[in-house]
Amino acid sequence: MAAKLLDGKRLAEEIRVGLGPRVLALAERGMVPGLAVLLVGDDPASVSYVTAKEKACAELGMRSVERRLPAEAGEAAIIEVVREFNDDPSVHGILIQLPLPKGVSEAKVVEAISPEKDVDGFTPVNVGRMVIGEPCFLPCTPHGVLKLIEASGIRTAGAHAVVVGRSNIVGKPLATLLARKSVNATVTVCHTGTRDLAEHTRRADILIACAGTPELIKADMVKPGACVIDVGVNRVDDQSRAKGWRLVGDVEFDAVKDVAGSITPVPGGVGPMTITMLLFNTVESAERAAGRA
Ligand code: GUN
Repeated sequence: MAAKLLDGKRLAEEIRVGLGPRVLALAERGMVPGLAVLLVGDDPASVSYVTAKEKACAELGMRSVERRLPAEAGEAAIIEVVREFNDDPSVHGILIQLPLPKGVSEAKVVEAISPEKDVDGFTPVNVGRMVIGEPCFLPCTPHGVLKLIEASGIRTAGAHAVVVGRSNIVGKPLATLLARKSVNATVTVCHTGTRDLAEHTRRADILIACAGTPELIKADMVKPGACVIDVGVNRVDDQSRAKGWRLVGDVEFDAVKDVAGSITPVPGGVGPMTITMLLFNTVESAERAAGRA
């Protein structure tokens, strides 16, 4: 293996250790950072993400409250819960696990979240602030990816970053953040309309795969020495496993690791960083609330 492994688990742990004293300082003022989580339906991947987020909160001495609604719950019932969270002073961060069931407008639900408690950074107010470079909650996965790129040691200023995927949660915000003056990368965004994907990815100094397609990025699509960040989390059938499936990313790890300069594994790369940046935003939100009190 030629590539340096970008250990998201370890970096996430380091950041969490730094949050500990901030949680303690809030506790001395009688305040426990609180994250409210709403899960609609019982999609197994969503259930496991939510469980991991709640466990991480507990480990850091933060409070999490979970509300579950059945998949049939309509938009109005979901928005009602969001409003309850908005009005609850013990809640500093609100997380609506996406995707929501078919027929529910994610845009309307997300818009109902108070921007001061929008620790996912999904509301139009926070997205707008991010684009114009105003203080805001940065979306957790893109924020975690930036930290991993920083840890890779690669020089971002003037580098060519290629983002494969244009979701609202990852691809779009990541492209915006990479083009910020403080990062200063030149950004290409590839998507399903891109004519020759490999032609673009081969020119990337920093390649970020966030398309949601298992093992889309092959070794011959990667520039030797590139920093490769794999945001994909895909369950693929594997009858050799007791569960009948295994997790793979959007990058063919075993082949790409021999070409890349640095690479994130799946699991243990971006995933733990996402959760940590969520804790980071929730602590920050609680500190702001303490400052207003
Ligand atoms: N679904 C997939 N990723 C995310 C995320 O970062 N936040 C929320 N709320 N839902 C998700």
